[in-house]
Amino acid sequence: MASARGEFSSRFGFVMAAAGSAVGLGNIWGFPTQTASNGGAAFLLIYLVLAFCLAYPALMAELIIGRHAHSNAVVALRKIAPGERSRVVGSWTGVIGFITASFILSFYAIVAGWMLAHCLGALANMLGATDIASWLIEDSMTRNVLFMAFFMLLTVGIITGGVHDGIERWSSRLMPVLLITLVLLVIYVLTLDGAMDGLKVYLLPDFKAAISPQLIVKALGSAFFSLSLGVGTMLVYGSYISDKENLPVLGGIVTLVDISIAVLAGFLVLPAMYVALHNGVEIFTAGGALISEDTLIFTVLPALFDTMGAAGVVVSFAFFALMSIAALTSSISMLEVPVAYAIESHGLSRRSAVLAISAVITLVSIVILSNFEVLFGMVVGVTTRYSQPLLGFMYCLFAGWLWQRNSILEELRKGAPEVEDTLFWKIWPSYIRYVCPAVILVIFLQALFG
Ligand code: PFF
Repeated sequence: MASARGEFSSRFGFVMAAAGSAVGLGNIWGFPTQTASNGGAAFLLIYLVLAFCLAYPALMAELIIGRHAHSNAVVALRKIAPGERSRVVGSWTGVIGFITASFILSFYAIVAGWMLAHCLGALANMLGATDIASWLIEDSMTRNVLFMAFFMLLTVGIITGGVHDGIERWSSRLMPVLLITLVLLVIYVLTLDGAMDGLKVYLLPDFKAAISPQLIVKALGSAFFSLSLGVGTMLVYGSYISDKENLPVLGGIVTLVDISIAVLAGFLVLPAMYVALHNGVEIFTAGGALISEDTLIFTVLPALFDTMGAAGVVVSFAFFALMSIAALTSSISMLEVPVAYAIESHGLSRRSAVLAISAVITLVSIVILSNFEVLFGMVVGVTTRYSQPLLGFMYCLFAGWLWQRNSILEELRKGAPEVEDTLFWKIWPSYIRYVCPAVILVIFLQALFG
């Protein structure tokens, strides 16, 4: 039975929602090229180890605190804090978390708008409306504002439905579509000339290239961004999990799904890049590295689709639909963070909270678009390189030092009575106390001075 504040109705629903949050633009436009440029399978191995040994424990901290408090991050951190001073720190951590989530959404919605425009552009091409298609594909302020706003509307539409009818329902529909589209695209691209060269670059291990301290730190940063950690997203999703569920298992499944989709995306992106090379498209930067991120998505891949003839339009549509879905299931998790706070801590109705907060975020996005050169990179940098690791650090302090160990055990036992005898309980408490905060601090200092 769902509680008044909403609850995921099934394990599948939660896993789709949390994996939907985790699987986003980062998995597809960052991870594959990062792997290929930094030692292939060797980097992959290091990423896997880091994701399971460090990002997973941090994810567990958020899920356990959230499920225990069944409330938003501000209230939850106050609840587990032992004294007045730590309660104030808890409130601030929650508040900075939802502000960070909102700023992440403000730049994410801009990029997602581009994805939607390209997706509809491919559709217009299929229908022969080439003028409309060119307008959709070409960069312009009007297009960027309209599609950012369109994407925000989709996010608003889902979040207004609440936990069960909005987040769970749409994640459970969209995530399987995402997976099927991704698999079909991988299969198709692997049949094209040049694909095997990409596969080799992706998978051949080069340990020398992968074992550099800076790279390890970068990989960990990516793992944190990829699992949506620090800003309270996973805490809020955790707060909607039923007490019957086994949290370490759920967190493990979410981590596994996130990593698997990132790895699978590599089987699409790298072969596609080498097919493009085979077809005469430039895939290296002037410095000799593989082109990545926005230039990869909006220049290299469209150039590849253009060389594929009729099939290219269909592939282009499928690819940008995949990116739009990945972005949407992440953006709803970002918007839910401030919305849950406004509902629970200020008594707003869900509808008013969603409308007011999304209006402010849309305005911020317009300001960013109007001063793109200055603001875009700055907002991405401040939120993902500084704010997320620092907030992750605070969560580790709360779960590792401030919250009583017995309470944590009691919370875990609700859905996993034998948890005390598991490997998880033998390792996790000291990990979250010592290893996670120390490593996050290293990432942070690296981001600051590196
Ligand atoms: N995990 C998302 C991605 O990999 O693209 C990004 C993200 C989602 C970050 C939700 C933060 C967040 F709260």
